[in-house]
Amino acid sequence: MLRGKHIVVGITGSIAAYKAAYLVRALIKKGAEVQVVITPAGKEFITPVTLSALTGKPVVSEFFTANDGTWHSHVDLGLWSDLMIIAPATAATIGKMANGIADNMLITTYLSMKSPVFVAPAMDLDMYAHPSTQKNLETLKSFGNHIIEPASGFLASKLEGKGRMEEPDKIVEVIETYFSKKEDLAGKKMLITAGPTYEKLDPVRYIGNYSSGKMGFALAEACAERGAEVILIAGPTQLQLNHPGIKRIDVESADQMYEQAMTEFQHVDAGILCAAVADYKPEVYADEKIKRKEGDELVLKLVPNKDIAASLGKIKREKQLLVGFALETHNGEKNAKLKLEKKNLDFIVLNSLQDEGAGFRTDTNKISIINKKGERTDFPLKNKKAVANDIVDTFIKFM
Ligand code: CTP
Repeated sequence: MLRGKHIVVGITGSIAAYKAAYLVRALIKKGAEVQVVITPAGKEFITPVTLSALTGKPVVSEFFTANDGTWHSHVDLGLWSDLMIIAPATAATIGKMANGIADNMLITTYLSMKSPVFVAPAMDLDMYAHPSTQKNLETLKSFGNHIIEPASGFLASKLEGKGRMEEPDKIVEVIETYFSKKEDLAGKKMLITAGPTYEKLDPVRYIGNYSSGKMGFALAEACAERGAEVILIAGPTQLQLNHPGIKRIDVESADQMYEQAMTEFQHVDAGILCAAVADYKPEVYADEKIKRKEGDELVLKLVPNKDIAASLGKIKREKQLLVGFALETHNGEKNAKLKLEKKNLDFIVLNSLQDEGAGFRTDTNKISIINKKGERTDFPLKNKKAVANDIVDTFIKFM
């Protein structure tokens, strides 16, 4: 899987830097070509001689070689690389990456990277848990970087907790999985709807729902990373994406999402409908702000929106696939099966608001997949990206 792959290993100033030597060796043993980029602090923990002996290449650390002035091009490294892994990544480096503080060769290389970037944090448990570190990691995720979460265990500070860099063989496993999954949707075009819809009441108000769009965005990313060309129709959300394989179309209302979905569905192999579309919209939109009238009730009349999933189900061609979601509070399986049939879906992803960690706004989800034969597969609670890959794995069996 790794044979001939170009991998940039970034090493920063953590005691876990010694593990980077094992990581580099394991990658090379699997046939990868490795280029090490190390920060000045990283060199305090592991010597470049060890690393260059392992890789057979000079280790890059400074912008210039002091003795002959050779310039090290971070731009060229960004183009050369098939994957960058920063292991160990300290809190300082993670902070610099999140904020574009390009004061060393490793950060400039990161900023020039055209390939996916994996980050394996290593630090003390309190530093890891600190809101600033967590915020920076969230920022990195929003850039499309992959975080390899640290393990819990004995730390250099002699404390026990989460912050230990993941073991090199586990990191290699993550990288191999990434490459093995990479191409299984190559040549496929996917339509994904995500997020809530807002139904306008007047210039300052809308009817909406709590959907964050996280599940749909994770799906878009997972499909793009596995080689698909993705059209993501997104309702209002703050989420950011950064993958060249994803074309994002922003919409606000269910009507706008419907128009875009009906047009785009004609050109795709499959649709995954993850959006929490408002079922109703106000019958009238007030051009001016609705004013409070003392003592009066305000009665809103709502009229139904079009069902995007059912409409696509009607025009679905023989070879096209259609996947829907059902977010239920009760009678989950029964309702999901009804929706599967009514909307002419190939399978439906059920998540229940009764399960802790599932549903809107969380970073995790717990799903069951139900197919047309009524067969149900349950999955454990996972982060939304892993859930997205489970859905894609199921999906591939249908293609
Ligand atoms: N859906 C859609 N367009 C709508 C409503 C729902 O495309 N107007 C899609 C959702 O994206 C999801 C599936 O249909 O994939 C089920 O959505 P859900 O809101 O659970 O079902 P509804 O059909 O709206 O039924 P209810 O709200 O009564 O549960």
